[in-house]
Amino acid sequence: MAKITKLDDIVSLCKRRGFIFQSSEIYGGLASCYDYGPLGSELKRNVRNAWWKAVVQMRDDVVGLDCSILMHPLAWKASGHADKFADLVTVCKKCNTRTRVDHLADAPENIEHVKLEVAQAEASNLGKKICPSCGTIGQFGEPMAFKLMFETQMGANAEDSMTVWLRPETAQGIFANFANVLQTTRIKVPFGIAQTGKSFRNEVTTKAFIFRTREFEQAEIEFFCEPGTDEQWWSHWKEERFNWYLNLGIKKDNLRLREHDRDELAHYAKGCVDVEYKFPFGSGDWQELEGIANRTDYDLRQHQRGMRTINSWYENGKDTLKAKLAPEAEDYEKGPLSYFDDEKKKRYIPYVIEPSAGIDRSTLAFLVDAYDEDEANGETRSVLRFHPSLAPIKLGIFPLVKKDGLPEIGTAMYNHLKKYFNCMYDEKSAVGRRYRRQDEAGTPYCVTIDGQTKEDGTVTIRERDSMKQDRISKDQVLTYMREKLDI
Ligand code: GAP
Repeated sequence: MAKITKLDDIVSLCKRRGFIFQSSEIYGGLASCYDYGPLGSELKRNVRNAWWKAVVQMRDDVVGLDCSILMHPLAWKASGHADKFADLVTVCKKCNTRTRVDHLADAPENIEHVKLEVAQAEASNLGKKICPSCGTIGQFGEPMAFKLMFETQMGANAEDSMTVWLRPETAQGIFANFANVLQTTRIKVPFGIAQTGKSFRNEVTTKAFIFRTREFEQAEIEFFCEPGTDEQWWSHWKEERFNWYLNLGIKKDNLRLREHDRDELAHYAKGCVDVEYKFPFGSGDWQELEGIANRTDYDLRQHQRGMRTINSWYENGKDTLKAKLAPEAEDYEKGPLSYFDDEKKKRYIPYVIEPSAGIDRSTLAFLVDAYDEDEANGETRSVLRFHPSLAPIKLGIFPLVKKDGLPEIGTAMYNHLKKYFNCMYDEKSAVGRRYRRQDEAGTPYCVTIDGQTKEDGTVTIRERDSMKQDRISKDQVLTYMREKLDI
């Protein structure tokens, strides 16, 4: 029977096998920043590539983009982030820990001193909440807004120096390039622009390994459509994105769609549904993997206002926080970020459906879902049952013994096959141990070259999950693997 996975098992395997390390570990680590090791960087790249293949390569209506992390600061004024992108936080008066108000849990009913301390925090409705760090109930300071964007200075001289932000989402680079993409391609609405890349947020609550970090990679699509068709496209993307996770092997029981309540919606969204995964932390709760939002025409309209603000921004000393966004033009629907439909002879600002995923968070879900322990030849083995297209190494190649010409056959096969996909040649230790190492790395297939190979040119190919071995011609290995990897 499959074992129930704990996050600690995953963290320990990730460290032991070189998937993921704490950032700056030799200096004691940097909180909530992580580095991907040799296996982890391959896994993460495969997740990113699988996303790109599904949403760009396989579709005729989505094109790619790769924007800079730093943008003109007015872009963040227009998007609303400069003024509004903050979490409401409170500080525990006992232990000084800062926590997001929406992450505070209610204290259990049966704790005696709840009632005594409720009054002190009644005003901010925190009286029944429990500090996740020291367990004190209802002893919180007044909630305050905590800004999430990292700030830095750009420019060497006083004249060109200005405050800029590291992007907290990749989406705004897409909106800022909407007109560029329209002018340089033949694409027509409805269409999408996709990009992957790093985003940064000075998150208050981190923990849970790579689930919520301060530097992370997003994979976002802004899909532009005619107003009135947005609900239909929203349904389309919900289904597409849900199935993407299933097709890459996530178990159906661990995945669900959850629609946001009105009070959960971001300032720009008309509706949002989250793809949620049942992560093994917290109380084993469902957690967001990806959000699919209907952003309406909010962003393009806001950037038109941003474009109209530029002169006064220079005149007023480039102070973005004090800048006042220009009012919307009366004929905003004909503005520079509008779209002209030449079949319908109609101009409008498109609505946007935004499927926004996290590459690190998806990687964690794929790791958790793939992790298993079972028995092989009387021993417990840890195995990562990755979908072949996500596995960091696709094929292990082992000569049974390190003599009789078997290593030569193995290295020749390795040198040939590595042109097509990641392979690992291993001739050290007993073959059983070599299998175990590949099982833990999630390698779906291993080939063994033995005495019979020299006689009839066949090898055994062993499948990771069933541990079943087939004998095939060594010249058939490439075709066999291509079929399994769908390449
Ligand atoms: N453009 C919309 C947007 O950024 P979001 O729900 O804030 O929406 C989208 O983020 C996705 O980015 C999340 O579903 C998650 O997968 C990932 N993400 C957001 N914050 C993250 C963090 N601090 N660490 C890791 N991934 C994060």
